Amino acid sequence: MEVNIPSCSEEAKWPCRRDIVSEIVDKEIKKMARKKIIAGNWKMNKTPSEAVALVEELKPLVANEEVDVVFCVPAIDIVPVVEACKGTNIQVGAENMYFEESGAYTGEISPAMLVDAGVKYVVLGHSERRDYFGETNEDVNKKVLKAFEHGITPIMCCGETLEQREQGVTMDFIRQQVKVGLQNVTADQAKAMVIAYEPIWAIGTGKTATTEQAEEVCKGIRECVAEVYDEATAEAIRIQYGGSVNAGNAAELFAQADIDGGLVGGASLKADFGKIVNYK
Ligand code: PGA
Repeated sequence: MEVNIPSCSEEAKWPCRRDIVSEIVDKEIKKMARKKIIAGNWKMNKTPSEAVALVEELKPLVANEEVDVVFCVPAIDIVPVVEACKGTNIQVGAENMYFEESGAYTGEISPAMLVDAGVKYVVLGHSERRDYFGETNEDVNKKVLKAFEHGITPIMCCGETLEQREQGVTMDFIRQQVKVGLQNVTADQAKAMVIAYEPIWAIGTGKTATTEQAEEVCKGIRECVAEVYDEATAEAIRIQYGGSVNAGNAAELFAQADIDGGLVGGASLKADFGKIVNYK
């Protein structure tokens, strides 16, 4: 572990330095306790046979036990991808899920279907689902609760538009998304879940948020979780950054105190994903 500890030679001059040192060490220890989670979000890409071919290509490249590796794939690819990932370190996630158990909901996928197919994670409230399919914070909350009922770990997405950023309301907007999304979620459940911060203006645009912007919001989300629950919950929850993550920027982003991995779109469909998983 490399910790940047200020020299103590001038301690007499700076009596508060001991506090600063212990704060830095404390933050590093807490960060180290959270295992990184690097998830690919394939979106609406890859037919079932293409999906299996991609898994075969990526399998050796993402073999890293130090991080959690998740492939979130289209519903129709789940069964063959789970099969292709057997015996590897890769866990499979869905990109969406409905909040009812079963019934007359043509076209939807139930949590029990996902569990039976071998799914461990589900991306919920991605901005594309909010934008194109009208998902609200309340829908996302219902889905988060339902996922927990079935033992699926939610990756709950949040993120602001460029307009909101320019108006200076980024954190207000995200706090609303996070607080509503977490309604009735217990502290123990929250500790086990993942929140993905994805500024909408950085998704698929090649524009990554600067490291400072990404860390600032991820830190804000952790503070929000601390307000809703407590410090212990905030320290346990994993917060990913997403939005044009690539092999070149992953190391710097993931080194930030409050960024515990990434939700990766475009770059998860290429060999580059192996470099992102092995970012160190
Ligand atoms: P991107 O997508 O990496 O292609 O920007 C991220 C996402 O939408 O999850």
